[in-house]
Amino acid sequence: MRIPKLNTKDLVTVSDLTRNEIMALFNLTAGLKRDAARGRHPDFLKKKSLAMIFEKSSTRTRVSFETGVTQLGGHALFLDGNSIQLRRGETIFDTAKVLSRYVDGIMIRTFSHDNVVELAKSASVPVINGLSDEHHPCQALADFFTIFERDRRLKEVTMAYVGDGNNVAHSLIQCAAILGVNIVLACPAQYEPDPTIVEDARRVASRSGSKVTITRDPEAAVRDAHYIYTDVWISMGEEKKAAAKKRALAKYRITKELLSKGRPDSKVMHCLPAHRDEEIEADVLDSGRAIVFDEAENRLHVQKAVMCALMGK
Ligand code: CP
Ligand code: NVA
Repeated sequence: MRIPKLNTKDLVTVSDLTRNEIMALFNLTAGLKRDAARGRHPDFLKKKSLAMIFEKSSTRTRVSFETGVTQLGGHALFLDGNSIQLRRGETIFDTAKVLSRYVDGIMIRTFSHDNVVELAKSASVPVINGLSDEHHPCQALADFFTIFERDRRLKEVTMAYVGDGNNVAHSLIQCAAILGVNIVLACPAQYEPDPTIVEDARRVASRSGSKVTITRDPEAAVRDAHYIYTDVWISMGEEKKAAAKKRALAKYRITKELLSKGRPDSKVMHCLPAHRDEEIEADVLDSGRAIVFDEAENRLHVQKAVMCALMGK
């Protein structure tokens, strides 16, 4: 197994990576996953420490990062955002400087994306974005690895995303554009993805030979899609906007009816946690069309590869 050299210290957004770097990470991910299935784990992170700052809830990210670093010979520290000094006004700069004296990498889940950018700039050790209000790069990498396992020819794949143009959508857009995967997003006008991210991704996609399309029409989005993705309507921190968002997103749901308008072999994706019978029908989530637990599992394997590349020997 080869640990790729990346031209970045941090993983703040998917755009920190090139196509070749993502493919090299996927190759390492596949190797680590094969080894793990045989009960073997290389010690690529021997004696390395990862600090994990969580200012928002998490199941997958917390467990997959901690398990991943432990499997490879290192260990993780869970830092609850409410009980570290950051909460009492210590600056991100000082926190970054201090943690850099103790640990070999920092993972952060926070609200403002600027917090991740500032932490990465101030820390001398690698910083990994475990979700901000704008981006969720580890999720998108795990999702496209899940697709790559099934369809080696990524450039022939089309993904539809139906719902809120949120942090997960942003990272999927960036990753699709870099990898040459077509992505069509069906969103209501007021909840489209950030236009700057879309424009940048379109420039990248024009070079990789794919397209980023935005539509209001979920049926048009899913018609030719091989993978149909959705995420919750109300992201963490948006609880006050719940009523307005639920009204606007009411027809942007993955249902059996919507799936019947598309390819019979399309697969359904969701980063989880899901709100059953809100953005996705429970029957769809529980059907053979859904590959959501493969995505969840692949968070573990992809993040191990990312940590090896950023923090490994
Ligand atoms: N998909 C994801 O990031 O899940 P958690 O919020 O449980 O970490
Ligand atoms: N968009 C969701 C993703 C959760 C993994 C949120 O930010 O809450």
